[in-house]
Amino acid sequence: MARPLEVPGSSSSLHNPLHAVVRWREDFQRMMSARVIESQLGFRVTWYLGALTLGCFTIQLTTGLLLMLYYHPSIPQGYADMKDLEFVVSSGYMLRSLHRWSAHAMVFLVFIHMAKVFYRKGYKPPRELNWIVGVFLLLATLLLSYTGYLLPWDQLSYWGTTVGANIISSIPIVGANLRFYLLGGHTVNANALLRFYVLHTMMFPLLVIVLISIHLWRLHEDGGMYDLDNSGNPIIPEHSALALADSPIKVEEEKTLSYRELLFREIIGIEALAVVLFVMGLLWKAPLEELANPLHTPNPAKAPWYFTGLQELLHYFPPFVAGVILPGLIVSGLFFIPFSPVFDRVTTGDAKQWFRRKPVRMVVAAVLIIVLSVLLVRVHAWDALLPAVVVTILLLLATESASGPARGFRSWLSSRPLSFWIMTLFLMEAVVLTAVGTLFRGPSWAWVWPWRG
Ligand code: HEM
Repeated sequence: MARPLEVPGSSSSLHNPLHAVVRWREDFQRMMSARVIESQLGFRVTWYLGALTLGCFTIQLTTGLLLMLYYHPSIPQGYADMKDLEFVVSSGYMLRSLHRWSAHAMVFLVFIHMAKVFYRKGYKPPRELNWIVGVFLLLATLLLSYTGYLLPWDQLSYWGTTVGANIISSIPIVGANLRFYLLGGHTVNANALLRFYVLHTMMFPLLVIVLISIHLWRLHEDGGMYDLDNSGNPIIPEHSALALADSPIKVEEEKTLSYRELLFREIIGIEALAVVLFVMGLLWKAPLEELANPLHTPNPAKAPWYFTGLQELLHYFPPFVAGVILPGLIVSGLFFIPFSPVFDRVTTGDAKQWFRRKPVRMVVAAVLIIVLSVLLVRVHAWDALLPAVVVTILLLLATESASGPARGFRSWLSSRPLSFWIMTLFLMEAVVLTAVGTLFRGPSWAWVWPWRG
């Protein structure tokens, strides 16, 4: 018979449940007492955006569980439950508002967290896997939010979901089937409500929890937040798996603090966010329009704000291009970022002379922008042209610096790699198209000034 394992320094066996508890506590303490480099805790490193996104998700889970106590996923009961939450249940409107505003905040924060990580080059080795997990998190966050949109079963949610489902059906070959399986029929109906409820309250939250766990575990294993020392080497704390694995990467163990300090700071940030969301809930109730009416299409029927950029594209391009090709290219591009050294490299030696030494990069960036601009002019997408113009002006500023001594902003611009220009253009397009789709579009998707009602 196999002998039970002995605990070092103890004569008793591991079969004792108390020893298991002691071991777990020690493991947990080891994890929590790991040291992080003080500079990595600075606000400028992360702006605490990842932690704030996590904070939003925690608020959503808590308020979502409480909402489940009142909500039935059926028609018209689901809508009646929303009315009850607003007028009958004590503080029910606050529960709804907190859930709704934290969902919007999570989508917003996840985008700027991604941008922040990108501009800090947080996707560089060994963090490629974590970046990819992040892209999945971005998609899962959008799906989590989108599936919740239908549940109130009012005009806004019904038609917002219908617009989204129609985009799916523009995917060639599989689109119609995919839409059918998602909705459980040909239209948004009771089957769709039940499916969206299951996806929103079980599948996607579980998926996000699993992905966040992998994300945070990788963050710990990769040596914490990405930071460079004065010579441009990544700083890796001595305790991290990377440093232990005989890595050539520089190890720094000065000025360290424990993870508890990090947690403390981030929890304060999350509490501040909770206060902001609470005040928003007091000032603006989560919207609830009339009961969904499949026979009355509002004009315009708008998707949730994070998809209005896509809707704006649908105004200019055929559904297959706007709904499939462009989003497909964007998502593939995001996955590709950590593996794109050609786009990412600046000239070694004098990085400031990027354009002079490598005119080919300037030409590539300029050609990309010209092709894009011609395409946008052809479809009269004047609003989408604006970011292309801004990026062209920045490119010209950067190029000019190559012809003479450049300082400050121009010099900084001229040392940016090609990936910087592509991501900046993409983010500007996303902001402009979303703003126009959300605020400046009225009946028949015609231009309106928001202040004219
Ligand atoms: C639900 C969504 C997400 C949550 C809760 C989350 C959470 C976090 C947290 C707490 C950190 C630690 C640093 C910080 O506070 O910023 C972090 C770092 C990181 N995140 Fe996220 N994240 C999410 C989405 C994303 C996305 C969409 C991407 C990119 C596509 C991404 C890529 C990364 C990477 C690469 C790091 C390491 C950065 C570095 O070392 O500087 N994350 N994330």
